[in-house]
Amino acid sequence: MPYLLGIDVGTSGTKVLILDEAGAVVANVTEEYPLDTPRPLWSEQNPHDWWAATTAGIQRALASAGLTGDDIGGVGLSGQMHGMVMLDRDARPLRPAILWNDQRTGPQCQWITERVGFQRLLDLTANAVLPGFTAPKIVWTRENEPAVYERTAKILLPKDYVRYRLTGEYASEVSDASGTSLFDVRRRAWSDAMLTALDIPRDWLPDVFESPVVSGQISPTAAQATGLRPGTPVVGGGGDQAAGAVGSGIVEPGLVSVTVGTSGVVFAHLDEFALEPQGRLHAFCHAVPGKWHVMGVTLSAGGSLRWLRDALGQDEVAVARLMGVDPYELLDAEAARAPAGSEGLLFLPYLSGERTPYPDPHAKGVFVGLTLRHGKPHLTRSVLEGVAYSLRDCLELVRDLGLAVQQVRASGGGARSPLWREIQADVFGTELVTINVAEGAAYGAALLAGVGIGVYTSVEEAAARVIRVVTRTAPSADAPRYAPGYAIYRQLYPSLRPTFEALNRWVVDAGH
Ligand code: XUL
Repeated sequence: MPYLLGIDVGTSGTKVLILDEAGAVVANVTEEYPLDTPRPLWSEQNPHDWWAATTAGIQRALASAGLTGDDIGGVGLSGQMHGMVMLDRDARPLRPAILWNDQRTGPQCQWITERVGFQRLLDLTANAVLPGFTAPKIVWTRENEPAVYERTAKILLPKDYVRYRLTGEYASEVSDASGTSLFDVRRRAWSDAMLTALDIPRDWLPDVFESPVVSGQISPTAAQATGLRPGTPVVGGGGDQAAGAVGSGIVEPGLVSVTVGTSGVVFAHLDEFALEPQGRLHAFCHAVPGKWHVMGVTLSAGGSLRWLRDALGQDEVAVARLMGVDPYELLDAEAARAPAGSEGLLFLPYLSGERTPYPDPHAKGVFVGLTLRHGKPHLTRSVLEGVAYSLRDCLELVRDLGLAVQQVRASGGGARSPLWREIQADVFGTELVTINVAEGAAYGAALLAGVGIGVYTSVEEAAARVIRVVTRTAPSADAPRYAPGYAIYRQLYPSLRPTFEALNRWVVDAGH
């Protein structure tokens, strides 16, 4: 029986998973690497680190499961999206990779939007161009590092660089290509119109496959470095969000995932292409062939609660250490002492700016409605509620597309809190479930490999065979109490926007 190997080239490390055919995880290892921020706004990584972590991770995973390369039937790749790897004609990286969370390209985004026109950008790529995306990074390099730009022969996304090292093939797949601003998401092909408008050579870009399609085989050199068998098929795979959705079974209409890590991501499957008219949701190809997805991002979701823990939770951290429990469990208990709605206290979670529905780097975190009645339970609960309102903003944009949201699947660290799950079910007005799989993108990548080598007949069948619901949280009797809170919450950003701008000017002028 063939085993399946999934790789996720993440921002803090590369994860390697091995699954058996029934979907059970038999090996799970992570190899970490640093993130470099050599200047303000910059975020870079060395592509060699990804390769070193991949080879070490595969070797360790095989050893820990007691398997050899002959046991692995197929490999699937996933990874951090949007990053730019520039290679010379000998496939050597010309500079460090510029990552998804790098913010240096504001001026290039503006230039691209003016040159192409906002509406035409939506027509050609289905998305607004954001500083994290790939095309503005290419333009930035042309403007700021012309010597690098002139020697460029290929541009790859992070996981596709690892694919090149594994197979010798320059290839990508539709879900990750969707986040480049160079891809026609409707037609699932590179956009010649965008490449021409930005004057970027077409032959710098790799061939693009559907996610479960075999894109190459493990080369003899890679076999030596990893312990895999030469000739093992490597499928297209997916960007981490699309592959993660496959790993959570978000592969049919009506299913939406809400993943609360540092950020919160709302991801909805689409059978037919659809676009939020103002481009406020990302619209990307799904890793399910011929399907799409939309996605909204709350930048500080779990990050808001971590901020509260660090700013006000010293007692909980100390007691949790003595009790040998997670400090978040104690913060949960604290929040549960305040009633639904936090007695009129609202929290706006824009601690690091926001992406959806307000793409505004200057938006700020705010408590509104503080009175003498409010104590730490209210502050804590209002953070949980404010994040849920912000995720509902994303969900409302999904509903506005005409999608019936039948079930929300919660994952990430935030899904471990029963209280937060209850608040989300109440605020969303939808059943919230958790599933048996928590390994995310690497798991989805391994399932895609299983489809590519014929273990499963389709991505849908793979998900149906291995993913099960384990908890269900229905909206409670408290649900109606959140409706007025959400209505007031919706008014906050528009009315505070001038204040955020003024605060930003003040901070910049004061040189803080
Ligand atoms: C997706 C996104 C992140 C990165 C890094 O749009 O920016 O999910 O892929 O994980």
